[in-house]
Amino acid sequence: MWHARLLRCLMMMMLFFMLSQTTTANDVNKSSEAKALLAWWPYGNASHHCNWQGIYCSKVGGVIGIKLYSHYLGCQLESLNLSSFPNLVSLSIDRCSLEGSIPEYIGLLSSLTILSFSGNQLTGGFPVFLTNLTRLEYLDLSGNSFGGELSASLTNLTRLKYLYLASNSFSGPIPSNFGNLSQLEFLNLGQNSISGRIPLHIATLVSLNHLDLTHNSLVGLVHGNLSRLDYLDVSSNQLSSNLSFQYPCNLTHLDLSMNHMTGALTTILVCKDLEYLDLHSNNFVGEQLDTLKFTYLKFVNQSLNNNLTAIASSPSSMQDIGIGLLCIALSGQSTCKNHMPRNKLVHHLTIFLPIILGFCFLLLLYACYKKHNATEKKIQLETEKHGNVCSILNYDGTIAYEDFITATEDFDLKYCIGTGGYGSVYEAKLPHGKTFALKKLHRFEANQPEFDHSFKNEIQVLTNLRHKNIVKLYGFCLHNKCNFLVYEFMERGSLFCALSSSELAVEVDWMKRVNIIKDVAHALAYMHHDCSPPIVHRDISSNNILLNSEMEGFVADFGAARLIDPDSSNHTAIVGTLGYIAPELAYNMIVNEKCDVYSFGVVALETIRGKHPGDLLTSLNCRGIALEDILDKRLPYPTNRSIEKEIIRVCDVAAACILTDPKCRPTMRNVAQILSC
Ligand SMILES: *[C@@H]1O[C@H](CO)[C@@H](O)[C@H](O)[C@H]1NC(C)=O
Ligand SMILES: *[C@@H]1O[C@H](CO)[C@@H](O)[C@H](O)[C@H]1NC(C)=O
Ligand SMILES: *[C@@H]1O[C@H](CO)[C@@H](O)[C@H](O)[C@H]1NC(C)=O
Ligand SMILES: *[C@@H]1O[C@H](CO)[C@@H](O)[C@H](O)[C@H]1NC(C)=O
Ligand SMILES: *[C@@H]1O[C@H](CO)[C@@H](O)[C@H](O)[C@H]1NC(C)=O
Ligand SMILES: *[C@@H]1O[C@H](CO)[C@@H](O)[C@H](O)[C@H]1NC(C)=O
Ligand SMILES: *[C@@H]1O[C@H](CO)[C@@H](O)[C@H](O)[C@H]1NC(C)=O
Ligand SMILES: *[C@@H]1O[C@H](CO)[C@@H](O)[C@H](O)[C@H]1NC(C)=O
Ligand SMILES: *[C@@H]1O[C@H](CO)[C@@H](O)[C@H](O)[C@H]1NC(C)=O
Ligand SMILES: *[C@@H]1O[C@H](CO)[C@@H](O)[C@H](O)[C@H]1NC(C)=O
Ligand SMILES: *[C@@H]1O[C@H](CO)[C@@H](O)[C@H](O)[C@H]1NC(C)=O
Repeated sequence: MWHARLLRCLMMMMLFFMLSQTTTANDVNKSSEAKALLAWWPYGNASHHCNWQGIYCSKVGGVIGIKLYSHYLGCQLESLNLSSFPNLVSLSIDRCSLEGSIPEYIGLLSSLTILSFSGNQLTGGFPVFLTNLTRLEYLDLSGNSFGGELSASLTNLTRLKYLYLASNSFSGPIPSNFGNLSQLEFLNLGQNSISGRIPLHIATLVSLNHLDLTHNSLVGLVHGNLSRLDYLDVSSNQLSSNLSFQYPCNLTHLDLSMNHMTGALTTILVCKDLEYLDLHSNNFVGEQLDTLKFTYLKFVNQSLNNNLTAIASSPSSMQDIGIGLLCIALSGQSTCKNHMPRNKLVHHLTIFLPIILGFCFLLLLYACYKKHNATEKKIQLETEKHGNVCSILNYDGTIAYEDFITATEDFDLKYCIGTGGYGSVYEAKLPHGKTFALKKLHRFEANQPEFDHSFKNEIQVLTNLRHKNIVKLYGFCLHNKCNFLVYEFMERGSLFCALSSSELAVEVDWMKRVNIIKDVAHALAYMHHDCSPPIVHRDISSNNILLNSEMEGFVADFGAARLIDPDSSNHTAIVGTLGYIAPELAYNMIVNEKCDVYSFGVVALETIRGKHPGDLLTSLNCRGIALEDILDKRLPYPTNRSIEKEIIRVCDVAAACILTDPKCRPTMRNVAQILSC
């Protein structure tokens, strides 16, 4: 597989080399290119489209590369007028949820060398017009829903090095003239419904070193001189064999499993460099291969070949688990035994022994550190008092349930600083000076046993969230009278309050507002992309963004937060605050990160507008109307050019976040990156 990656990498390097060299002879109409890009993504700066992420221009300024991966820009391919880019050398839009068919006029982009649309939902037959692109060297249409037969005119692409059509629904035979693709190095047609025979010439392609035809319906023989291949996977077909490997054999990966192969295996012994050998579920006859004869073998499976006689010296199936030990599966039982040839074992030991020793040393250091820390900090965990649990983490000194009760005079209303959907928040100033925020849960919820369970589970998760812009959860108290969470106290209260109060609104100037939006973006990007499993907040609103004394923004109130379990469907009841809930939740109730992205967009607009954006949500165009009409009028219009630019950027990003189609919204990582440019 490293081969494929290397090739991809080389192709990309080649692109960048070309990008830096090209001064194409064709006329470059920059204004029409910029116009086409702006029609596609109206939030960019037209005079600087060459600086957009994923857009590459040549020295003379023409667009020659478009490369988008998991990027929201790519969702609207049909609105990108590709014929405006006659000089395009590389076009790759991967994993961007493209739908429909590839527009036919791509066949006119005669300079294209790299074309990739992998991991989208494109449909239709094989796009024959692509074979007009005779300069193509790299073609990747894998992971789409293309069907129909492969076209014999593919051989018109005489410069093709890399052809990746796996995981589609192609059917019919492999065109017999594939052997004419003399430059081909990488061919993957796996996971399709291709039938018929493997063309004789395929194995004689002089440059081919990676051939993957797995999971198709191919029949007949695998013949020819397979020696120069590095990677061969024809598993899960209906192939018979006439294996012939000649010296020198360059295979490192050979998978013939789940076919109808017969004959003897001895010819494989030529391939001394094999690391992976899977022969299971065939009809091979004669003796099993002696696995000790391969120097680098890490995996072998010769099971379910009924006519194969076992040989005593070597197992029929094994998997290298490193450090010279092989786990051997024989007659359903796993045993481990030392299998490596002696010199190899010594070789491994010299590499791994220092690593293991170093690791043990670090472990020892860590254990010492932990012990030291625990005694010094006197972390009070699980103080049981009359059957009540109070757990305060990361706080030195002893605090008990009673201290909080005293500090708030048993949750007297005069200490209440806010009320949210999941409870009321109180300020608790403890005798020794430290102030906390306590969130007391509404009683009716606290009494439900299943709520209690999820509540504790959630605490466990949130205790592990460590981000500068997420309000710290210090601990919690579970008591038979009331349950409450103990949070870091935020001096300036919620963003909503700050924007509602006319004095505070002036104090939170443009710079502070932009920074608050950045803080929230970073916190959400952390929850969505750095936590495993990702955490979705589900209730981002200006009420749940808190400000500290320096007016930095913090995400709070994880009462509704949910771990996104990759195996579950993530259907759930609607939660959140009206006016911030993503529109798709109204009809499909599938919760994912994009719901938070929408709410973030609303909060960002609210922050620059000074109030909930309301109708603006359905008709936002940051360029179409004067910025003054959007911005909070209680603050003077920004005089500083760079601040004005940042505000425009916030507006653009927010506009993308509130797009109706969740697939077209950026991810929080995109947002955080764009905002911190
Ligand atoms: C470039 O394109 C623009 C808009 O598409 C058009 O108005 C202009 O005439 C073109 N210029 C040239 C030199 O072709
Ligand atoms: C685009 O960028 C240029 C140069 O930085 C600037 O002069 C121009 O105002 C920008 N246009 C917009 C709409 O931001
Ligand atoms: C696409 O761009 C080309 C060249 O710039 C132009 O002639 C054509 O009218 C455009 N098509 C659309 C649908 O805008
Ligand atoms: C193929 O290219 C030629 C010119 O090179 C052009 O005339 C023809 O229309 C193209 N065919 C398709 C299907 O794009
Ligand atoms: C492929 O090339 C052959 C001749 O070389 C030509 O007849 C055929 O039209 C070409 N196919 C396409 C799709 O361009
Ligand atoms: C493929 O190669 C054979 C000779 O090996 C030649 O006769 C045939 O025309 C070629 N086909 C194409 C489409 O180039
Ligand atoms: C098989 O290919 C290898 C490498 O290209 C070559 O050295 C060898 O002679 C070939 N064997 C036969 C029988 O063609
Ligand atoms: C096969 O491997 C041998 C020795 O490892 C090397 O000399 C030869 O160039 C390789 N052949 C191909 C076609 O990669
Ligand atoms: C398999 O190959 C051997 C020589 O490598 C040949 O003698 C035999 O006829 C072939 N069998 C079939 C069915 O092609
Ligand atoms: C084993 O091989 C013999 C002949 O070589 C064949 O008749 C028999 O069907 C084979 N058995 C299986 C299970 O493949
Ligand atoms: C080998 O293949 C058999 C049959 O599919 C399977 O049960 C077994 O787990 C495989 N062994 C290894 C080590 O993968």
